Amino acid sequence: MSDPGSHVPLSIDRIRQACAFGLIGSCLHYVESTDSTNTLAHQLAREGTPNGTVVLAETQLKGRGRLGRSWVSPPYRNLSLSVVLRPDIASSEAPQIGLVAGLAVAETVREWGPHAMIKWPNDVLIDGRKLAGILTEMEAAEGRVQFVVIGIGINLNSESEDFPPELHHRLTTLCAASGGLVDRDAFTARLLSHLEQRYEMLLRDGFAAIRPLWEALSCLTGRQVRIEGGTQTCEGVVTGLAADGTLRLRSLEGQDIRIVAGDVTVVNGYEESSQQSAASSQEKKAEG
Ligand code: BTN
Repeated sequence: MSDPGSHVPLSIDRIRQACAFGLIGSCLHYVESTDSTNTLAHQLAREGTPNGTVVLAETQLKGRGRLGRSWVSPPYRNLSLSVVLRPDIASSEAPQIGLVAGLAVAETVREWGPHAMIKWPNDVLIDGRKLAGILTEMEAAEGRVQFVVIGIGINLNSESEDFPPELHHRLTTLCAASGGLVDRDAFTARLLSHLEQRYEMLLRDGFAAIRPLWEALSCLTGRQVRIEGGTQTCEGVVTGLAADGTLRLRSLEGQDIRIVAGDVTVVNGYEESSQQSAASSQEKKAEG
């Protein structure tokens, strides 16, 4: 077990020194505590904060996950950040930015050693266990994006006691997977660099340039999955990403299906990883 005293606050100076900021991170906010970096980023975006603004927090009081779930993370151990982007794109294309963020996270993790994979739409896993989640939110008008907020949560140095025992086999941390405490400043700087590089690629060359890079890291291709979204559930084998970033499935009846959103479970595969479930069971524990 690592020494809890080694969990030091992020140093914005060290991050600035390590990262040649172009767009992403040129405006950097660091707060000790906030409800949610996504909420704060939304507020800043509405007030006109520049394209590429990054919000980092040590603690989130109401961290949010996908599909209305919560996200919990102990202070000084992991990474919780949001990025405000102002691309001139149709709102239907905004989810592609979330896919780009998943790619950037997986590429950064791989620099630390582990073979991170992406689970559509943008969870990042190591050996089938969830390491990171991404929440993409936007404001749009007349079918065009006003701004997108990309919220990224990554388990870097948390310890197994930080999660309930029933979730130990579903979650992982980069510290556990790479065998040593992660320098959070260095990781943040590399992540922002990867994100900038892939985001520029998306704007310059389109999603067609991102797609093969993303597919090379996908852990779902060829697997049988169940997709739950709203009132509908469907099952099939993943055949890849469509040109617009939706997930392609071959249904059990042999039909081609495109999935726009939903919760993916691998059938007979690794267990679904969900830090959001961790959050809700922690809440249940606290209640009683
Ligand atoms: C998921 O896997 O459901 C997505 C989790 C996203 C968590 C991050 S932490 C930083 C940002 N602020 C939030 O409230 N959520 C995202």
